[in-house]
Amino acid sequence: YLVIGNPIDHSYSPQLHNHWFKKNNIKAIYKKEKLNLSDLKDLVLRIKDFKVSGANVTVPFKRDIIPYIDELSLEAKITQSVNTIYLNDNKLVGHNTDVEGFEFAIKETKFDTNGKTIFILGAGGVVPSIIYALNKMNVSEIIITNRTRNKSDILKKTFNKISIVDWGEIPNFDMVINATSLGLNEKDEINLDFSKVEKSKFFYDVIYNPQETNFLKKAREVGYKTENGKKMFIYQAAAAFHIWHNFYPKINDEVYKLLNK
Ligand code: ATR
Repeated sequence: YLVIGNPIDHSYSPQLHNHWFKKNNIKAIYKKEKLNLSDLKDLVLRIKDFKVSGANVTVPFKRDIIPYIDELSLEAKITQSVNTIYLNDNKLVGHNTDVEGFEFAIKETKFDTNGKTIFILGAGGVVPSIIYALNKMNVSEIIITNRTRNKSDILKKTFNKISIVDWGEIPNFDMVINATSLGLNEKDEINLDFSKVEKSKFFYDVIYNPQETNFLKKAREVGYKTENGKKMFIYQAAAAFHIWHNFYPKINDEVYKLLNK
């Protein structure tokens, strides 16, 4: 098994999958490979030749891989994002387990999404998966803001019920999600002013490394409920594992600890 992307050094997927292989006596190995766009064709051949049993696809190839896929799951088709591939009857199948990863992670936080207003910062690669999941979870409104307005407008073509506000504007919301890359560097700050937001709100960050971005740190210090993207990451991996091996691996403290390194 493989995870492919560029860069790929930061990926924790091998730790998770190899841990689950060991615990379940599965004779397999999961590696990471840094690929270029021109290598995707060869990756597909390696899967079709049974040299690779399954692959996770990460940034920046989740969309680029689509032309090589024979069958897309509904989630993958709508979000135009594939993170899990495997061979079925000689056909390459593409799934998007980020949707399930986000949904399960939010359910575990016990935040009730029913009828809630969700404010999303960013319009990059992971946002269609989050919108898709939120729609399944019966939220009442999704509001997007992105520094580059045009990218939010493009998202609205797929998800026509979303609302868009300009970067800098803070609408009323129940939950705010940082889906920008701001926070990946520990010193990153998001130049938005949340000081007038009521204390009952939920601040979520898709980023899990660093474990607490400045966005979450400030929110926690002020007294808001916060959560990072670690569970989302683990659940998307577990969903990929389920697709490949037909059962869900155990998610326990041992698994969480693998991501603390
Ligand atoms: P991509 O946009 O290629 O899919 P991504 O990492 O998935 O890449 O998305 C990065 C997100 O972080 C984008 O929403 C980006 O905003 P732009 O579309 O305006 O680039 C956002 N982002 C990155 N740096 C930012 C910054 N300094 N301020 C605000 N938003 C930023």
